[in-house]
This record gives sequence, C-alpha cells and structure tokens, in this order.
Amino acid sequence: MRDVRKSATSTANTLAFEPGHDTSFGSGLSHFRHGFNESGLFTDKKLAELIDSYPREYYMITTMSGAGERPEWRNGDFNGASGKFVLNAIRSGQLWLCLRRLDLVAPEIDTLVNDAFGEIEARNPELKTSRRRSSLLISSPGARVLYHSDIPMVALWHVRGRKRVWLYDADNPVHLPDETLEGVVLRETEEEIFYDPAWDAEAAAIDLEPGWALSWPQNAPHRVDNLDGLNVSITTDYYTPAAQRKYGVYYTNGLMRRRFGWDPKSTATEGARALAKCMAAVAMKKLGVHSQAERDMMQSFVLDLSKPGAIDELPQNEWRPILQV
Ligand SMILES: [Fe+2]
Repeated sequence: MRDVRKSATSTANTLAFEPGHDTSFGSGLSHFRHGFNESGLFTDKKLAELIDSYPREYYMITTMSGAGERPEWRNGDFNGASGKFVLNAIRSGQLWLCLRRLDLVAPEIDTLVNDAFGEIEARNPELKTSRRRSSLLISSPGARVLYHSDIPMVALWHVRGRKRVWLYDADNPVHLPDETLEGVVLRETEEEIFYDPAWDAEAAAIDLEPGWALSWPQNAPHRVDNLDGLNVSITTDYYTPAAQRKYGVYYTNGLMRRRFGWDPKSTATEGARALAKCMAAVAMKKLGVHSQAERDMMQSFVLDLSKPGAIDELPQNEWRPILQV
C-alpha cells in the first residue's frame, strides 16, 4: 500500500487527504487522516463510562464464527456486566460491539463526525450528504467482519488498534449480483452474502491505522480483519442524492422481482424511470409492502460474567428478539 502520509495535503483543518480523495468522498474511494484521537474521548475509562450509560435498544454485541466455520453473526447481551468488564471481554474474546445512535447517547462524539463532514463538504461544494448516522464500534484484536454490503454510503473513522479492510468492486456482478443487492436493500438478510476467497486477488486491501479514515463506493462489498489491539472505530452511514436514487432503484427492482415475478433489467439511477422507481420505493416502504420479510434480530448468547471474553450460549427455545429502535 502506498504511504499516503507523505503525499497527503495538510491544511489548517483537521483532515488530510491523499491527493484527489477529498473530491472522491461521497462517490469513490477516499482515504484520509482525521484528528478525532486528540479529543480524549476514546480512552478505556471514557469508553467504559459510555458503555455503562448505553440504553439496551441502542447497542448490539455480536460474535462471529471462526475461520472455516459457516459464516454467521450472532447477537448477545451484556448480561448486566459493567462497561469496564465489557471492554475486557472484548479485549480477550471474539466480540464486536456496536453502540448506535451517537447523536442521542454520545453527542460529543457525534459532533466530531459532523464537524469533519462540514469540512469535507466545504472542500467539495458539489457534495451534499444527508441522513448521517454514526455508531461506535469496539471489537476484539482478532475479530473479523464477514463479507457484506451496506445499504448506505459508509465512512469508517479508525481510532484505536489496527485493521485491514478488504474492498471489492460494487459493480462486479459476480461479487455482488443484482438480486443479492436487492435482498440487502430489502433487509431480507443480516447482510451476509456469498463470498469466494478467490476474489481477494481483485480486492483492494487497506490497512487502517489509528487516526485514518476511509469511505468507499456505495454497496461495495467488503470485509474486515482486525490485525492487533482493541479496535475502536466510528462508522457513519450517510446518503448523497445519487446514493438515495440507487437505494430506490434497487428497492423497487427487488420488490418487482419478488412480488410480481418481473425480471428488472435496468439499474440506471438517472432518468424518469429511475425517479419513478424511487417514488415507488418510498410509497411501498410507507405501506409496509415488504416489512414481514425483514429480518428479526435474535439474541442467542449472553456474556459469561465469570470469565471475560467467554460467552454463555442460550438454548434456541430461549432466543428472543432484541429490541432495537
Ligand atoms: Fe460494512
């Protein structure tokens, strides 16, 4: 990987981009430095306090299968553990914690992100972002995030530890068939999608160090390997007008295929037909046309309070839906 530290443009602002990567933010690959680490908000003590204060409906603690096992995410519960215990559990286990809705629960962190977006939009007046939602991710040194595709645009602001992000081509119909992306957009799956390790030869592998951020093309499949240390990052979902149109087109194409047996050929996001699909998507979402097929998030384990990092598996008849809002 090229060392962007030498080529990054440095300004009086807090962000430093690889050349051209300030204007590719919001559409293509963008790799840049940020200054979040100087805030003092991400020490063990601050993170433990934040975890202690987190409402149940806004966190997800997850474990993932090891190499060679059937890839799957499973959701759990803190089981009453303190923030300090949870951090130690993550440090010693195979866990991945997502603290959602920073805007409501940790506005001081959300402000860091919003200020950075303000700076990016000031550098690129054609860029307009909306519906920004940030979450804090805290994950184990050896944790992996399996191959998946996210619905919105994503910016990943890395704060602690090291991780390798593998990015695949969003427009490659082998890596991401239209029907698969429709299923993701319709929330039929928990975003796990078919992956062949042979595709790694065509992927971009980017090592994220503390203080570096990355954004990539909408829906580009990706997976993440933590390399070392407790990993702390902020992930921000956002939309641009083009990203909203792509969402609407795939939502409507997916419903047409599933409900009406049509085989939509066009994935164009410009023009009258695309606009009609976006309007149809809004209407069908409001009517709840597909809502019964959306996934239910089930709790299948709790943290083992006698051993940081271990989990207690729940028998399947004790699994229950996790309330998320
Ligand atoms: Fe993702």
